[in-house]
Amino acid sequence: MTSTLSSTSARADEVTAEAVASFDNCPDPRLRGILQALVRHLHAFAKDVQLTPDEWAAAIDILKATGDITDDKRSEFILWSDALGVSMLVDSLANTRPAGAMESTVLGPFWTPNAPVRGFADSMIERPLGTPALVYGRVLDLDRAPIAGAELDVWQNDANGLYTVQEPENDEDHLRGRYYSREDGSYAFVGVKPVPYTIPNDGPVGAMLGAGGRHPWRPAHIHMIVSAPGYQRLQTHIFDGTSAYLDSDAVFAVKRSLIREFVPRRSDDPERPASISGEWCSVKNDIVLAPAKASHA
Ligand code: BEZ
Ligand code: FE
Repeated sequence: MTSTLSSTSARADEVTAEAVASFDNCPDPRLRGILQALVRHLHAFAKDVQLTPDEWAAAIDILKATGDITDDKRSEFILWSDALGVSMLVDSLANTRPAGAMESTVLGPFWTPNAPVRGFADSMIERPLGTPALVYGRVLDLDRAPIAGAELDVWQNDANGLYTVQEPENDEDHLRGRYYSREDGSYAFVGVKPVPYTIPNDGPVGAMLGAGGRHPWRPAHIHMIVSAPGYQRLQTHIFDGTSAYLDSDAVFAVKRSLIREFVPRRSDDPERPASISGEWCSVKNDIVLAPAKASHA
């Protein structure tokens, strides 16, 4: 019995060694390293959990279902990456931002290019529903000097929890916009108070979350990509500090430094921007960008 077991394990080790060596002639050293490590880790995983043929067949069915539900508006593969924490892991491996610079977080699946360009403090609300929120602050460098002309590409969900790309029948510019910082680095835009929402959970990732005893919720946040010549592009969120799920984000994307206070404001508040009527709120968010990394071309 013992010798059968040890010969099974020896054969398993041989298969791993053969599969790793099959890439020995890959001409690109980086690709060779990645493929060989992939095989080693995948085989180690199968050995670790003593994966059965039925379980592996089920996993392959899940990959097929992931492809079947993916289209140009929805990538279930990105959702796997997000929900298994790989997106945030890769973010933390890539990000060597200096102390003081605003931190990055996941992109998510709802960014779309060519958001409308809007003016200082303009509203990006095309269809009133949620509580208007003025987001304002300055774009600064590490010495807190202003950065003029920085682009803020902003998108967020509405009070119904949905991003405009999830409601194709609605105005596609709703709650999306590109804003630019002024000479003193100041920027401002009007969106709405974001709400917690579920990541798309009607596909294989949702099934995994349910079977795994996890919920699909994300805490309330507003997305932004901030870019300016000479600075590192920043893909980030600001989170509402009163939101549920800050401690159990389904995609592990909360960083304490990104939590902000959405301050309630009355309709007669003299600072109310012209584009807002009724109750509103405001959130101050200074954005510190890190200098671009020197290129070694
Ligand atoms: C989002 O914040 O939009 C998001 C991020 C990851 C998965 C799903 C949604
Ligand atoms: Fe989001």
